[in-house]
Amino acid sequence: MNKLTIALAGATALVPAGAMAAELNLICSADVVVCEKIVSAFQAGHQDAAVNMVRLSSGEAYAKVRAESRNPQTDLWWAGTGDPHLQAASDRLTEEYKSPMLNQLYPWAVRQAEVSGYRTVGVYSGALGWGYNKDIFAQKGITPPACWKDLLDPALKGEIEIADPNSSGTAYTTLATLVQLMGEDEAFAYLKALNGNIAQYTKSGSAPVKAAARGETGLGIVFQHDAVAQAVAGFPIVVGSPCEGTGYEIGSMSIVAGGPNPDEAKIFYDWVLTPEAQELMPEAGSFQIPSNKNAKVPKEAPDLGSIKLIDYDFATYGSSEKRKALLARWDAEIGGHATE
Ligand code: F6P
Repeated sequence: MNKLTIALAGATALVPAGAMAAELNLICSADVVVCEKIVSAFQAGHQDAAVNMVRLSSGEAYAKVRAESRNPQTDLWWAGTGDPHLQAASDRLTEEYKSPMLNQLYPWAVRQAEVSGYRTVGVYSGALGWGYNKDIFAQKGITPPACWKDLLDPALKGEIEIADPNSSGTAYTTLATLVQLMGEDEAFAYLKALNGNIAQYTKSGSAPVKAAARGETGLGIVFQHDAVAQAVAGFPIVVGSPCEGTGYEIGSMSIVAGGPNPDEAKIFYDWVLTPEAQELMPEAGSFQIPSNKNAKVPKEAPDLGSIKLIDYDFATYGSSEKRKALLARWDAEIGGHATE
């Protein structure tokens, strides 16, 4: 035997067949604190699986899955708003899977699966709105907004943050909501006027209300549960729900087509839909409505029944054509003029 053969024989003896740790490459599009909590809870129960997690906003996650489509590196994409998951499904970037957990889910979560041909599924839901810093508003004598139209108040110049809808699912939900409420041309006219009050377009959807909580800005347009999280953490944030009505998300999960570890992806998928896993989210300061009927709804979660919700058209606004077209128009008419 030459030296190399001996080395290889030795290595084989040290790593018996079947003892290799399984891997799972996960994109997580929820808040990073929740992402870490979920991954460590999964690992505690599945010690043979090494989870490689990256946190990306929903639009960025879609872009990564799309960019890797010839040689997928990701197995599973958990959380983030449903629209880019639906776009990935319509682009056939994600795999059809019918989890045995489906019969435990609310109809809105199952409908998300049906609309996508079972290439995605609902994991939580939450309504769009805003959070404002009541101390800043009081100091500056600004009247708190009750409606989308109130956000155009000149007193709010430089006081509002929202994310960029290319990277953020929250901001795309806002764009799609305004289009559904007002019609496309009027929504873009509104966004142009609103641009005058925007301090900055952030990458992540919840960043605007985190900035408002710390007094860096007055108001963040975000999901209401993200505003609640800041109030629960002790910041002077008041949650707002627009009087004209508002959109909502069905946070989703998808298995990437052709990913390297499909079996581990399914194990995580089924586990993360259990009540036990979903009930971990509020422990990490995340107050969405869980999709499993047996999971406790956190008492802090905004009550969707008392919020004026629009009949959000997920099939249309999650389609590839619509999302691409709206983002292109946003880039041309809003994003390109962000600093003017
Ligand atoms: O912070 C949690 C959350 O609002 C989720 O409810 C939502 O799916 C996700 O963040 C959206 O994040 P982003 O706007 O960064 O894509």
